[in-house]
Amino acid sequence: MHYNILWFLLCPHRYNSVESFQPVFSVNHQTVLVLDFGSQYTQLIARRLRELSVYSEIWPPNTPAEDIRARGPVGIILSGGPKSVSDPTAPACDSAVFEIGTPVLGICYGMQLMAHSLGGRVAPAPQREFGHAIVSVTGQGAPAALFVDIPPEIRVWASHGDFVAATPEGFSVVATSANAPIAGMSDPGRGLYAILFHPEVVHTERGLEILRNFAYGVCGCTGDWTMASFVEEATAKVRAQVGNGRVACALSGGVDSTVAALIIHRAIEDRLTCIFVDNGVLRLDEAAQIRKRFERLKLPLVFVDASKLFLDRLAGVVDPEQKRKIIGSTFIDVFEEQAATLGQVDFLAQGTLYPDVIESVSVVGQSAMIKSHHNVGGLPGRMRMTLVEPLRELFKDEVRAVGRKLGLDEEFVIRQPFPGPGLAVRILGEVTPPRLDLVRRADAIVAEEVRREGWYAKIWQSFAVLLPVQSVGVMGDARTYEYTIAIRAVESRDGMTADWARLPHDLLARISSRIVNEVKGINRVVYDISSKPPSTIEWE
Ligand code: XMP
Repeated sequence: MHYNILWFLLCPHRYNSVESFQPVFSVNHQTVLVLDFGSQYTQLIARRLRELSVYSEIWPPNTPAEDIRARGPVGIILSGGPKSVSDPTAPACDSAVFEIGTPVLGICYGMQLMAHSLGGRVAPAPQREFGHAIVSVTGQGAPAALFVDIPPEIRVWASHGDFVAATPEGFSVVATSANAPIAGMSDPGRGLYAILFHPEVVHTERGLEILRNFAYGVCGCTGDWTMASFVEEATAKVRAQVGNGRVACALSGGVDSTVAALIIHRAIEDRLTCIFVDNGVLRLDEAAQIRKRFERLKLPLVFVDASKLFLDRLAGVVDPEQKRKIIGSTFIDVFEEQAATLGQVDFLAQGTLYPDVIESVSVVGQSAMIKSHHNVGGLPGRMRMTLVEPLRELFKDEVRAVGRKLGLDEEFVIRQPFPGPGLAVRILGEVTPPRLDLVRRADAIVAEEVRREGWYAKIWQSFAVLLPVQSVGVMGDARTYEYTIAIRAVESRDGMTADWARLPHDLLARISSRIVNEVKGINRVVYDISSKPPSTIEWE
């Protein structure tokens, strides 16, 4: 059990009710369901299974057993979670889940829940285990199913305050550690398995193999989930959904909408029209590069240069929320106008990903807010269009793999995220053409140097922010009184929390001196060393 307070505060009830959850029923593959008890690693479990070519979906913890039975999974995994089973508000699963006859693997909290539900005893551990621990695989003779081909001793990642003090009847102990005599238990007759550590985390040695042993060895998976099969199926599905209709796709210039467009194009060819709007707040040369990329991919593209309209509407606006609203509503105006010239268009394509689907019921947290900006919120309802979302089942790394398969260049596939409101959230105060020019040129230098040093793909984002604060400097013999650039570079898993990246001083020095020398109008460069929270990643 790992207790990340921030994660829990932001997403205390990711699934407020089973009714509001819309599972993805669409794929015809052997499926392992992961019931989510709130661990920050839940998505990682599903992603690891997918790496093993096993399709996996994340479902609410309290899903009724009959719904699970109806879905027909080959295996069920109970995730970790921040609570203690003794807490009356702790999430539980339908106890009939253990009787469906489908193998179940409990991980950390999932193990404690399994023990607690089936008559074992869970108690606070005398010595809590957070971080690395050494687990010994017990049992004489043949190894337990989870530990086939695993060495007798492995280093694992643990994070639990409770432990299982007594197994339920019928279980035997299959792993043990210094602070948790029962670190693993199983009852193969009933198909029930549990471990107290996290096999999905890279710090657990042979963790992927333990998951493989469960999926392939216990559940009988054959590895029928591959990106090649996904592309074929997604294409067929789009064809079936759209029939003879026409689809419009609002391209953001990012990987998700581009890959969605590629799949739809494969399915319906020129009945797809992609619309790209230059909103005037893109990075240096970005519009031209996007245009070229789409020409190379032979995607039918309507390119609209609406930069003047956006910048006119942004003139004099200082309030960040106001800037975002103007950009959002102007985008909708421009998009609607373009779509109207296409004749009858019944469908709108969107690059919605699986994390959006499972977090769309989040009551608190920023992901929903980010999404509403990102996914051109409001469009489909207003335009009475049906959504086509070919990537709804995919995690970001899978989208990248599909992109590569469909011919996207590597540089684009590994692109760092870029916000929909673009440089407007990287210029404090009013957005004007001269200010855009400054931040664009400084940003291009940051990108170039960060790439050159091999940091670009290692971090979540790196960029320049314009602070319209003037200060005195000297250049040659002259006194200057000019603006400041802040460099922001962060490490993050999902943008929800972030830490500033420890870029080497030499790299920062080079960026700083290049910006001051090459961007006239900037005489000072600072490095942002705040984490999120309490700061945010963007400055606005
Ligand atoms: P903040 O600044 O809220 O950003 O810490 C978190 C992550 O989200 C990105 N971001 C956006 N992405 N549309 C987007 O597509 C937006 O309106 C938006 N606002 C912030 C930001 O770049 C960071 O990765």
